[in-house]
Amino acid sequence: MEGSLFGRRVLLIISGGIAAYKSLELVRLLQKEGAIVHGLLTQGGQKFITPLSVSALTGAPVATDLFSSDDDERLSHINLSRQNDLIVVAPATANLLAKMAHGLADNLASAVLLASNVPVLVAPAMNSVMWAHPATEANIATLRARGVLQVGPARGFLACGEEGEGRMVEPLEILDAVRGFFQNAAPSDQTMTGALSGLRALVTSGPTYEPLDPVRFLGNHSSGKQGHAIAAALAAQGADVTLVSGPTCLEDPKHVHTIHVQTARQMLEACQKAGAVDVVVCAAAVADWRPVLSADTKMKKGLLPPSVMLTVNPDILETLATQQMNRARLVVGFAAETDHVVDYAKAKLLKKGCDWILANQVGQELGFGKDDNEIIFLKRLAHDEIAVEPWPRLSKQDVAERLALQVAQYFAQVKRDAA
Ligand code: CTP
Repeated sequence: MEGSLFGRRVLLIISGGIAAYKSLELVRLLQKEGAIVHGLLTQGGQKFITPLSVSALTGAPVATDLFSSDDDERLSHINLSRQNDLIVVAPATANLLAKMAHGLADNLASAVLLASNVPVLVAPAMNSVMWAHPATEANIATLRARGVLQVGPARGFLACGEEGEGRMVEPLEILDAVRGFFQNAAPSDQTMTGALSGLRALVTSGPTYEPLDPVRFLGNHSSGKQGHAIAAALAAQGADVTLVSGPTCLEDPKHVHTIHVQTARQMLEACQKAGAVDVVVCAAAVADWRPVLSADTKMKKGLLPPSVMLTVNPDILETLATQQMNRARLVVGFAAETDHVVDYAKAKLLKKGCDWILANQVGQELGFGKDDNEIIFLKRLAHDEIAVEPWPRLSKQDVAERLALQVAQYFAQVKRDAA
């Protein structure tokens, strides 16, 4: 079952306090609820925990530096401040709260917070005298008035040996506050249901069959489960979906216009006839080659087996992603790989000119015909940088819903940028 934070993107800013180690537990709790967590560790935070421990849990690089020399676009303060649904600052030190209140931007954390237009939740942690100081009180009042959410602090023994108010609340309590935030968010923001209404989507699914004669073909084991689930998930978000499907045993998804084809060339033609769309998802396992000749009548057994000459099929994803006229605003492909999954998928993304790739390892346990998928989600960023995000093992249905949510968030951002 999905957690209550499924697909939510949370940036966790960890500043310098003894409670920083508890933030590692918070990462796990958020992930267990389905959130996608990215970490940012301040210089102070690094005195208590290492970037490595955070990245090992989040499965993504950890932002640490405002002027990073590794020039990773994903970790720039602008990207970090925009690509999340919520920023959680835990622990939030008196120093960082003061910077937030006064609009300072002298390190990565404060710069991200100043450049951000997404909601912020702080979990203060400090000595009780610092907490009670009129300066901190004034800063907190300023932040509250600005809509910053707050959880804690709690009373108890503090790291300095004193007792009083200033302890960071427990990770479970922060998790509850995060849950509460998303529950109280506007309905469209909370579920994104209907978030794709007014948009057109095109999905390819299933295998293609390339005939040798009227009864024999070259094909593959694709079941179409993933592509069909994606078409249904996009339709559930309100998109007007056309599904172009090769031969499968599946029923046509509800509320989706399904076109049935056999060969790669028919699939391409059907896609092109679908006209202009906003998003394309190519999930079909298109046969890379077809027989040069296909007999009109059944080939009879002779003394020798026939030799089959093959020719290359059109690449549907590449054709749609690189077309000059009416290219969809978002083109998504899959990469089925048995080995070197990320490297091959990155190369595929660049070669085929698409925006996102869902790479999956195919082989014995996962892939064709199976119900689960283990996806590595690749996103093309500026300057052909590629963000790599491993997803947990999910059912194909859940992969479809997660992708639909990503698509919804993408178009919501496009709308915000245009406003
Ligand atoms: N694809 C396509 N048309 C083709 C071949 C592939 O649209 N003729 C799309 C698939 O739908 C998928 C992506 O391209 O979204 C990658 O498919 P995959 O089978 O992983 O890779 P190939 O391009 O076939 O390359 P290779 O077999 O060498 O890995």
